[in-house]
Amino acid sequence: YHVDWDTAAAEKGGFDWFMRKEIFEQPKAIADTLLGRYSARGELVLDEIRISPETLRRIDKIVIIGCGTAHYAGMVAKYAIEHWVRIPCEVELASEFRYRDPIVNPQTLCVAISQSGETADTLQAIRHAREQGSHVIAICNTNGSTIPRESDAVIYTHAGPEIGVASTKGFTTQLVACYLLGLYLAQIRGMKYGDEIRDVMDELQQLPAKVQELLDHASTVYELAHQLADQEDYIFLGRHVGYPAALEGALKLKEIAYLHSEGFAAGELKHGPIAIINPDMPVFVIVPPQGRDQLHDKVVSNIQEVRARGARTIVLAEQGDEHVVQFADTVIGLPTVSTLLQPVLAVVPLQLFACEVATALGNDVDQPRNLAKSVTVE
Ligand code: G6P
Repeated sequence: YHVDWDTAAAEKGGFDWFMRKEIFEQPKAIADTLLGRYSARGELVLDEIRISPETLRRIDKIVIIGCGTAHYAGMVAKYAIEHWVRIPCEVELASEFRYRDPIVNPQTLCVAISQSGETADTLQAIRHAREQGSHVIAICNTNGSTIPRESDAVIYTHAGPEIGVASTKGFTTQLVACYLLGLYLAQIRGMKYGDEIRDVMDELQQLPAKVQELLDHASTVYELAHQLADQEDYIFLGRHVGYPAALEGALKLKEIAYLHSEGFAAGELKHGPIAIINPDMPVFVIVPPQGRDQLHDKVVSNIQEVRARGARTIVLAEQGDEHVVQFADTVIGLPTVSTLLQPVLAVVPLQLFACEVATALGNDVDQPRNLAKSVTVE
């Protein structure tokens, strides 16, 4: 009796790529990252933060550092932390931070985001920050790796091992950890917005189901990938936290599909990027939830602007958003969520899209050319 047993396939749990498996693991990864971090009394409990509340109350600046995908997670964190905590936040590429003369001191909190915990640039950056007396919190997915060991505190993302070189569940769990850190700081510094911690925690708990919904209804994304696989240039637009989500969508496509893709802040369109729009160029636009502020309408105007230049518009918008339909060649519906949390949902179809295009092009999705999972040299 012969069993046709393929170990590699078994490790991938029936998926063709680790990356695809990891995309589908996101509901569990997010739930695991939230697990045990919220007490029955409605308080955030982050046991791994070994920096005293007194010290954290004295912080007057936050510097967030990372590379690649982790840097984009940091960009989202800035919007959330400044809104909730009202402390000025800078986000910087680790490789840039290291070689200028950054102003960091004992009142600075440095947040180092790294899936692997071994990225050389990020490690050098935190060493530099600590030499100046600043406090360092790592957000990391790898237990006992160098960056958390050399930090004052760590919030582990519980995504499980990430094998695919292009980060997926690493990113969404980094976002969740950033939200938790922001809410924690808000809690110990006395939150301005009363019940908002509780509301956001409730919303965070609902994210796994919403991500699952996106994964279960992705046929539009797959069809799109097959329609667009021969296109060579892609644009991704977003505003506010949709901007880093757009950058991440473009990065996925570069990393594994080797396609020229650019993410722009939608508000910057008229300052240059709109000049490169060619007829039929695919332009992905992440639309903020329909809300009270003007952000949503501004982005809808941006869709009209690129549409008028002949772009093929692929619009990621809240389900039931009627305003975008008339300007969209394709609509990808996102479950309802508040603006600050939307990147967790918006990035999922973009991950699936990149994975599908790269597969259609015959690329090795898990081990893309020229890239390494963990860049331990400068
Ligand atoms: C490499 C990986 C990227 C990752 C970046 C930062 O370039 O290919 O996927 O975003 O490093 O990695 P880290 O482990 O520090 O999050």
